[in-house]
Amino acid sequence: MYPQIFTAAKGVDQAFLIILGFAVFILVAVTVTMIYFLWRYHYTRNPKPTNIEGSISLEIIWTVLPTLIVLGLFWTGWTSFKAMRTIPEGAMTVAVEGRMWSWRFTYDNGKTSKELVIPVDTPVKLDLTTRDVIHSFYVPAMRVKWDMVPGMDTNAWLQSDTVGDYDIFCAEYCGLKHADMITLLRVVEQEDFDNWVNAKAEPAEEELGMSLLEEFGCFECHSMDLSEESAPSLLDLGSREETVILPDGTEKKIKPDEAYIRQSVREPGAILVKGWDDMMPAYGDELSDAQLGVMAAYLLKGGQGKNKGAVLADELGCMGCHSDDGTDDVGPSFLGLYGSERKGKTADGKPYTLKADDDYIHKAIVDPSADVPDGYEDQMPAFDDLEPGSVEQLIGYIKSLAKKDAE
Ligand code: CUA
Repeated sequence: MYPQIFTAAKGVDQAFLIILGFAVFILVAVTVTMIYFLWRYHYTRNPKPTNIEGSISLEIIWTVLPTLIVLGLFWTGWTSFKAMRTIPEGAMTVAVEGRMWSWRFTYDNGKTSKELVIPVDTPVKLDLTTRDVIHSFYVPAMRVKWDMVPGMDTNAWLQSDTVGDYDIFCAEYCGLKHADMITLLRVVEQEDFDNWVNAKAEPAEEELGMSLLEEFGCFECHSMDLSEESAPSLLDLGSREETVILPDGTEKKIKPDEAYIRQSVREPGAILVKGWDDMMPAYGDELSDAQLGVMAAYLLKGGQGKNKGAVLADELGCMGCHSDDGTDDVGPSFLGLYGSERKGKTADGKPYTLKADDDYIHKAIVDPSADVPDGYEDQMPAFDDLEPGSVEQLIGYIKSLAKKDAE
């Protein structure tokens, strides 16, 4: 049998074995008796029929015995079921959201994860919800399986006595990629769990680079997508080529590197990107060399897929249906989507043709059923409950994947 790590569910295995044992016993007993009767009461051995009257004792035995067996089987099943449905006081709570076709686990401190990480020997209550259709949370190693029904709050609990990685499946057919709705249950030591749950989602350095850019107000003018309203975009700086105007007025093509970024921050007026005025304030002592180094490293690495929207798109499960490489899957690819011409039908069946702009993508995220592009099913769940700013970040990410000449 599959390894079993949930003490309260050990009764489930027991009930299974007892029921299986009885079933095998009854199968053998009935078969053997039947064969014996075939032989014993064959007409060659009993040429004259006998009239058999009823037997009270036999009637009683074959009524009472099966009743006791069935009640016994019910009892073993019921006790194990009850143990699995009685959530211990003080259990740690994790919110589990299922959606086509991924999972999201949210912890009390707001931490979210695509995998379920829990400390060993600790009872964990799971609040199960779904964003769209019926899914079923299933951990074979725990014998835990519970449906997640739209509009209904269900729950389950589990507790592992063993450290390790175990499968989590969706056990309810929920559409095209139901089979991909797989994730991991990671059971770790309490100390490792504490470190994990209190750690920030992004790697420290990346987080630091981003927060420095925010702290110094860089995003007041620069964007991390392709929009360039008042200053050059900072997206993909490491792989870009810029035409700059040197102090002597000559033009030169350069690839931004750390030295260039350092200079652009300390003396922004010295070398200007072609097409932009000398508007940026110079940053002096308020920004240390070390901080500048972190910022430059972040910008040089921080291309597509490194911005917050990309992290969010991954975390929210967008990438389960949308690709970033141009392959159209269950949903259209994000690559080249922004600014492209979209044909489709509105909720009341009216055909439309329009350009994918901010408004279009905003609507596609919060109310996807309103405009369904041709060639796709109306099956995307609405993301109308995201944190403030999240939709804008997602739009920024999709914009960053626009064809470069789309804007
Ligand atoms: Cu979700 Cu199958």
